[in-house]
Amino acid sequence: MPYTLYIFPFIPKKCLSHSQYNMHSSDQLLKIIKSALSKVKLDGKPVELYLPISYTLDLGGKRIRPVMVLMACEMFGGNIEKAVNPAIAIEIFHNFTLLHDDIMDNAPIRRGKESVFKKWNANVAILSGDTMFALAYKHLAKSDINVLHNVLEIFTKAAIEVCEGQQYDMNYETIENITISEYIEMIRLKTSVLIAASLKTGAVIAGAEEKDVNNIYNFGEYVGLAFQLQDDMLDVYGNQDVFGKKVGGDILTNKKTYLYIKALKDAKGKDLDELKQYFSSTDFDPEEKIRVVTEIYNRLGVMDSTISLINEYYKKALTYLDAITVCEDRKIILKKYSDQLTNRNF
Ligand code: IPE
Ligand code: IPE
Ligand code: MG
Ligand code: MG
Ligand code: MG
Repeated sequence: MPYTLYIFPFIPKKCLSHSQYNMHSSDQLLKIIKSALSKVKLDGKPVELYLPISYTLDLGGKRIRPVMVLMACEMFGGNIEKAVNPAIAIEIFHNFTLLHDDIMDNAPIRRGKESVFKKWNANVAILSGDTMFALAYKHLAKSDINVLHNVLEIFTKAAIEVCEGQQYDMNYETIENITISEYIEMIRLKTSVLIAASLKTGAVIAGAEEKDVNNIYNFGEYVGLAFQLQDDMLDVYGNQDVFGKKVGGDILTNKKTYLYIKALKDAKGKDLDELKQYFSSTDFDPEEKIRVVTEIYNRLGVMDSTISLINEYYKKALTYLDAITVCEDRKIILKKYSDQLTNRNF
């Protein structure tokens, strides 16, 4: 019946059907994720293997990746019930990466509590992490059979890329001159691809068109770059109690963050010598090193440069959200959620 189209020829068909669809708020989606996570069975034996897993998952975290799976699914008119298992899988995988990342980064605090390798030891963090990686696949395998192949492929590609990014991150600790494009590629791999894959997974479950799937993936990649830049900035300028991680951790481990690369480019004289000196070894008094490097960053205004770059990437991200061919109303929740993410302090 082409009747409606004759009456409203200027309104895309998608908007008409979608506008009748009631969408969940980000808080409601978070509640769904928390409830599903609380049902994951983690009381197996040996307790030494499972306790660190429940400890980590119970510590909370923002849960942005699983929320984004559901958000993208709903944005494209999908049934979020079909997205819950893959969403949980991605969150468990993310938590696994944190267990191993804290060993690699020698990070003592995570989500305001002792990191797993500090509370127990590195072997415990390795093995519990491995189990979580397998648990992630267990949940992923529960995806609807029609999308299972696709979802497995998206996830596996992202998981491998995260490891590639992590290796670059480690390699760069001992290389003085890293270019901005090398840094961006490193954070794209270690952080962006998982955010992009989360959104893509939701879109695929909802049966979105290929062009839209690609656009939401690209949106996620640029949001991810802004997100990691913000994380790197909070690592220097955050409030430890709110941020939940040790402030100055990246400085102690000689991480080649954008803040460092920009400072190295702009510093002169004594600042330049000190910066190079401090980033050439880890054998310094930790608090002194954090203080001196932060003072150099302050003098060079690297915080403002980082904020500008965050805004640049976020603006670019939004061009991909704009290009998605669903009714604009349906993008509001994801847009608002991403706005908040790029302005967070934790
Ligand atoms: C931490 O991720 C690792 C990064 C990619 C910066 P989140 O900031 O999402 O950590 P949680 O899950 O909320 O603790
Ligand atoms: C995040 O890098 C990437 C992954 C955990 C895969 P970071 O090392 O900056 O993350 P945080 O700051 O420890 O959360
Ligand atoms: Mg880390
Ligand atoms: Mg790291
Ligand atoms: Mg960090």
